[in-house]
Amino acid sequence: MQIGIDKIGFYTSNLYVDMAELAQARNEEVGKYLVGIGQSKMAVIPPSQDIVTLAANAAARILSPIDKEAIDLVIVATESGIDNSKAAAVYVANLLGLSHQIRAVEMKEACYAATAALQLAKGHIALNPNKKALIIGADIARYGLKTKGEPTQGGGAVAMLVAKDPQILALDAEASYYSKDIMDFWRPLGHSEAMVDGKFSTNVYLDFFNQVFSAYSQKTKRTVEDFGALLFHLPYTKQGLKGLRQAVAHADEATQARLLAQFEFAREYNRNVGNLYTGSLYLSLLSLLENSQDLVAGQRLGLYSYGSGAQAEFFSGILQPGFQDALIGHQELLAHRKQVSVAEYEQFYQSVLANEANRQLEVSADPGQFVLAGVKDFKRQYQRQE
Ligand code: HMG
Repeated sequence: MQIGIDKIGFYTSNLYVDMAELAQARNEEVGKYLVGIGQSKMAVIPPSQDIVTLAANAAARILSPIDKEAIDLVIVATESGIDNSKAAAVYVANLLGLSHQIRAVEMKEACYAATAALQLAKGHIALNPNKKALIIGADIARYGLKTKGEPTQGGGAVAMLVAKDPQILALDAEASYYSKDIMDFWRPLGHSEAMVDGKFSTNVYLDFFNQVFSAYSQKTKRTVEDFGALLFHLPYTKQGLKGLRQAVAHADEATQARLLAQFEFAREYNRNVGNLYTGSLYLSLLSLLENSQDLVAGQRLGLYSYGSGAQAEFFSGILQPGFQDALIGHQELLAHRKQVSVAEYEQFYQSVLANEANRQLEVSADPGQFVLAGVKDFKRQYQRQE
């Protein structure tokens, strides 16, 4: 039985800041942000969206009533959790109108956790082949205004429906993983912004790629030549490009050209959204699937998942016949966003809901189906809009 990604959907806010404008405001060369970091636009998440609404908005785009009936496992992977106890998945399942006969939990290991969730879902479907699992990576990346990490912020959610006989990508049995206690990026309790040893983190990301890719190659005897495309966790798109260049350094010229060409499609959406932590690798997958014209069913895709702290995994899957028909297209969602000035972005950034007991939020300008309307006695108030 084949198990894998049957549907995939993405959601981010309707607001973005232009990276050239941000570079100018920070007295940096525009080329540093656009080329050196590899980002063109950065999603700006207003207070009326949090990881619960982003996750629900992403999932609502792909789920049919039949899917909703079959789902009995919901995992929200996030490092931007809104509660130390209650799982975001419980809120999300309620907003989506899912059955009560489900397992709903939240998972954490920096940007990696959605991959663990995907692999757990695969095991769950193997035991329960007539069921479906909903896996969502949802995050808001925050480093602080005027920090080195600022141009690598962003936010959004990617929802994946995992099922038998998947329409899009059947996951291979083999995967390799690597974990080591490292302080490259972390967010202590009570802090709303990440702490990061930036340069160190970029090197660990590349070291861990070597670890997991060589273990995967040893296990499967596959080399980079065997892949239709290689996908990377994209904290910013230049980091993935560095990973890819390292991966293909000893490959033949045709393979290098092919994989580098596919990477341009795979970074298109991420370049215009920024880092969404747990969802970034899967947004890159979606970007490749929806933008590349050169993919054919039967090709193998390789995926590199990395989460600071640190945990990495390399795994793969086979593109399924007719996979294009299962894609819903996200170009419009991104094209119809509104640009905000750097001053407006800073205002949104600073007005995010903190540890407050009561506050009402303005939601009339937010086009999301699900919005956060405020907090009452420390209880978040979610709303569905028509
Ligand atoms: P920085 O020190 O400001 O940047 O911070 P830089 O000086 O290293 O410049 C960046 C690049 O721009 C360099 O290229 C420059 O040469 C180039 P590189 O050497 O890297 O190839 N550059 C230019 N290019 C063209 N035209 C110009 C120009 N000027 C300079 N005019 C840093 C960069 C990434 C360190 C910072 O933004 C940061 O700390 N970001 C957050 C950490 C991060 O994203 N790390 C990535 C790996 S860890 C990871 O992926 C996990 C993560 O997603 C978290 C999780 O798991 O939860 C972060």
